[in-house]
Amino acid sequence: MIEPNAIRPLSDREFRSLQELIYREAGIHLSEAKKALVSGRLTRRLRALGLDNFKDYYEQVEASVDERTAMLDCISTNETRFFREPKQFDFLEATVLPHWRALGDSGTIPKKIRVWSAACSSGEEPYTLAMVLGTHFPDSDGWSVEILASDLSTRVLSAAREGVWPIERSNDIPERFRKAWMLRGIRAEEGRMRAHPRLKSMIEFRRINLNDRNYAIRDSFDLIFCRNVLIYFNRESKTDVINRLTQHLSPTGLLFLGHAESLTGTTHTLEHAGPTVYRRSQRQQPSQ
Ligand SMILES: C[S@@+](CC[C@H](N)C(=O)[O-])C[C@H]1O[C@@H](n2cnc3c(N)ncnc32)[C@H](O)[C@@H]1O
Repeated sequence: MIEPNAIRPLSDREFRSLQELIYREAGIHLSEAKKALVSGRLTRRLRALGLDNFKDYYEQVEASVDERTAMLDCISTNETRFFREPKQFDFLEATVLPHWRALGDSGTIPKKIRVWSAACSSGEEPYTLAMVLGTHFPDSDGWSVEILASDLSTRVLSAAREGVWPIERSNDIPERFRKAWMLRGIRAEEGRMRAHPRLKSMIEFRRINLNDRNYAIRDSFDLIFCRNVLIYFNRESKTDVINRLTQHLSPTGLLFLGHAESLTGTTHTLEHAGPTVYRRSQRQQPSQ
């Protein structure tokens, strides 16, 4: 058996260079405690490139946009689930959506709902939103639902576009949604679950780096989900992201963060509206 080339351990100095570059690119702050994790996640990439040390790897990453994308694919943590943090979906269904539906049906607002799932990982979050919104705002009643789903990682985005998961993931989906919107695989797809084409037709997938100064999006959104990603940012990058996202919220729009995330330590123009849910402050004065 041929042993793969031994890789020289990641030195503190090499770690600091990668740490700075990852922060600059993605806003992700990796503390010293993450050194072993970074080394572990990048080792496979070094092997694939035939490299045996992180110094040479760093030079490649600095020189190539494609390699920076590949590196961020390796570094990102993509854990997600359908109906993750169900209280927020209960809040939507009980409080927000019936109100919007009534306004749309009475002609007070257009029958159009725009949503952004801003760190969508392998798609469970935007497909959950599509199931909930597609149920409350059926196209047969003249409604349209448009969901932009974005992530930094091209690897998870291509999985999300496929819309196919191991069947066990269906356990996270309440039966009324699963029956209406998911297809159980047969024959070659035995053991898998596939999103109904109508679900897919509501979602557009794009690579967007939340750390970019401009998101190249002109739209404003009724709902923005940015959950379980701010935890990787530091105070400065988190503040920037929150304020850029706020600019894309419609006047009555809602921003959803993960339940372990908060606006504490950032300067923003939002106020509390539900379980880690925020809306534009009526006063529009920056709060701390
Ligand atoms: C833990 S997952 C959360 C997925 C989903 N929002 C949820 O709550 O289940 C975090 C996602 O954030 C993405 N991410 C990390 N940094 C990002 C950035 N700067 N811009 C966009 N997405 C980023 C990662 O690629 C990953 O898919």
